[in-house]
Amino acid sequence: CRVYRHAGEASKAVAAEIAELIRERQSQGRKAILGLATGSTPVGVYNELVRLHKEEGLSFRDVVTFNLDEYFPMQPDELQSYVRFMHENLFDHVDVLEENVHIPDGTLADADVEEYCRRYEAMIVDAGGIDVQLLGIGRTGHIGFNEPGSGRDSRTRMITLDKMTRRDAASDFFAEENVPRRAITMGVGTILEAKKVILMAFGEGKSSVVAKAVEGEVSAIVAASFLQTHPNAQFVLDDAAADAL
Ligand code: GLP
Repeated sequence: CRVYRHAGEASKAVAAEIAELIRERQSQGRKAILGLATGSTPVGVYNELVRLHKEEGLSFRDVVTFNLDEYFPMQPDELQSYVRFMHENLFDHVDVLEENVHIPDGTLADADVEEYCRRYEAMIVDAGGIDVQLLGIGRTGHIGFNEPGSGRDSRTRMITLDKMTRRDAASDFFAEENVPRRAITMGVGTILEAKKVILMAFGEGKSSVVAKAVEGEVSAIVAASFLQTHPNAQFVLDDAAADAL
């Protein structure tokens, strides 16, 4: 674990690591493959990456991104869509190429989802695998939308959202009944294949689930606990989120 006094400091440190990876890959003539997350937690990292682009010339032209998840069904221009979130918080403000951006598609017909998820996995492999995967954590212990019951070998797929997750998302959708019941998410197995994983959690509301993830039994009851088995996974916390450790 890395514990910072404030979320702002933690976000700057994570953004600096990502910037270093991007520059290192650029100097080698290679692409950096980033796994990206949504939610309020990574916003500070995205703000800092935008600042580094504008003020220090950090270029995203050789960056390839794969997002973790998307609600289903979801149109890309809807207020709560993760496509919209990523554009508003990062992609619209940097020089990333649209063809290098990948976000699970919430507009598919049900019958097409399985094949789509297989292709999403294949695209990650074809890109050379994810160099660094950013994660938040939900109060159910989910990473991406891997709700309790998601096994270590789970892959990109459709999932049914937990009641607590839908309740936590209610304010974004103006009422719990408006929150989609399903989502497409990378699996735990997909996430564990990233070369490096950074899970960020801020605030006292996350302290109990963070303790389960970091110190609890490794089990499908708390998907984030599987990170304990990853050779290069870090929990980046503020004091409040580390309070129960
Ligand atoms: C959603 C996202 C997760 C995120 C979680 C926590 O469920 N699918 O990726 O980690 O929310 O959100 P927040 O960072 O706003 O607490």
